[in-house]
Amino acid sequence: MTAMTKTAAAVLISFGALGAIGAHAAGVTVTISCGSVGQDFEFCKKAGDEWSAKTGNTVKHLSIPQSSSDILGLFRQMFAAKATELDVLSVDVVWPGLLKEHLLDLTPYANGAQKDHFPAIVANNTVNGKLLAMPWFTDAGVLYYRKDLLAKYNEKAPTTWAELTATATKVMEGERKAGAPDMQGFVFQAKAYEGLTCDGVEWVSSFGGGNIVDSTGKITINNPQAAKALDTAAGWIGTIAPTGVLNYGEEEARGVFQKGNAVFMRNWPYAWSLSQGADSPVKGKVGVVALPKGDGGKTAATLGGWQLAVSKYSKNPKESADLVMYLTSAAVQKDRAIRGSYNPTIAALYKDKEVLTANPFFGDLYDTFVGAVPRPATITGAKYNEVSAAFWNATHEVLSKKSTGAESVKKLEGKLNGIRRGPNWN
Ligand code: GLC
Repeated sequence: MTAMTKTAAAVLISFGALGAIGAHAAGVTVTISCGSVGQDFEFCKKAGDEWSAKTGNTVKHLSIPQSSSDILGLFRQMFAAKATELDVLSVDVVWPGLLKEHLLDLTPYANGAQKDHFPAIVANNTVNGKLLAMPWFTDAGVLYYRKDLLAKYNEKAPTTWAELTATATKVMEGERKAGAPDMQGFVFQAKAYEGLTCDGVEWVSSFGGGNIVDSTGKITINNPQAAKALDTAAGWIGTIAPTGVLNYGEEEARGVFQKGNAVFMRNWPYAWSLSQGADSPVKGKVGVVALPKGDGGKTAATLGGWQLAVSKYSKNPKESADLVMYLTSAAVQKDRAIRGSYNPTIAALYKDKEVLTANPFFGDLYDTFVGAVPRPATITGAKYNEVSAAFWNATHEVLSKKSTGAESVKKLEGKLNGIRRGPNWN
């Protein structure tokens, strides 16, 4: 066992229904990792307990970091050591090509249940004909805004980045003068990690600057619209956004917005239910719209989302797959949607009255969710993480004013050519 796996093993916390062990002596223990952003853990724990009660098996939870990039690092180390400590894992939508060697084919366990889920996500999770992960929830970047503040300043939700900049400036300055010195205009994810790739893909795509690498594998990032998008975002740092945003992930941005200290926030849908919680200072004051567009572009939301998979090294593949099928079922997805604003991957749930009442924007922004822009993960396959890291670092340099958009995308093109090494990515 490597040092890292020991660490991972040391953070295993058992939350299994202990009473069930005696009652169902034949049950096995299944260890799952299922996220630590927002209410991720709480929801996963509840559904895991339900499955335990039904089956007599025990669920252990592996506590994992918040950043998708850090989680990937941890899983890769555990897989390299063929660690048996992890049975069921949460898989980011951009990972199937990176983790394909280590995940079990779920086809025999799914009994066709994958047919109820969005076909594009099922296709994303299918590598060489193997269904490596079941869709669990989908994600798309959206713009949160303060309804009350926009009304106070007689402004509307922006549809362009220029409008967002102008409105954020006006409301922020007005509120600061009116005695709210901590008010910010716009918060988002700009730490150097996968979340910045997501925000950056939205900026570049919304300016008509393409998607880093196109679907044929061509490196397209070195273009004036992409440079302009990054320069525009750099203009927000230290003006409408705090410089601290350069170190923000999802939860840091949500912390500022939910405290009432930002006019706009870019985040994923999970932040909605939390912003409407009984203890939220912005309850009833928040609206959600599609992200703004740039000059010559159109609104773009990055496709995110998580799947559940079974490790090839699991000693209990059958029970692990059964847990995956339970957690990704329509009943669990419905509960998560209503109480946690997690977007279902089952199209029928977007017609469910209770789901739509709890999350009005699931209906209004349906096109955003089904038309979200995938990061270039399928085409770059096993090299996706290197591609993404090169992009988030290039973007971070522009945001920190170490480089201009034009210099940065030119350098990035060279770097990506080096990562591809030849005409094809794989
Ligand atoms: C969200 C998305 C995921 C993305 C991550 C980046 O969790 O669902 O796809 O990679 O954010 O921070």
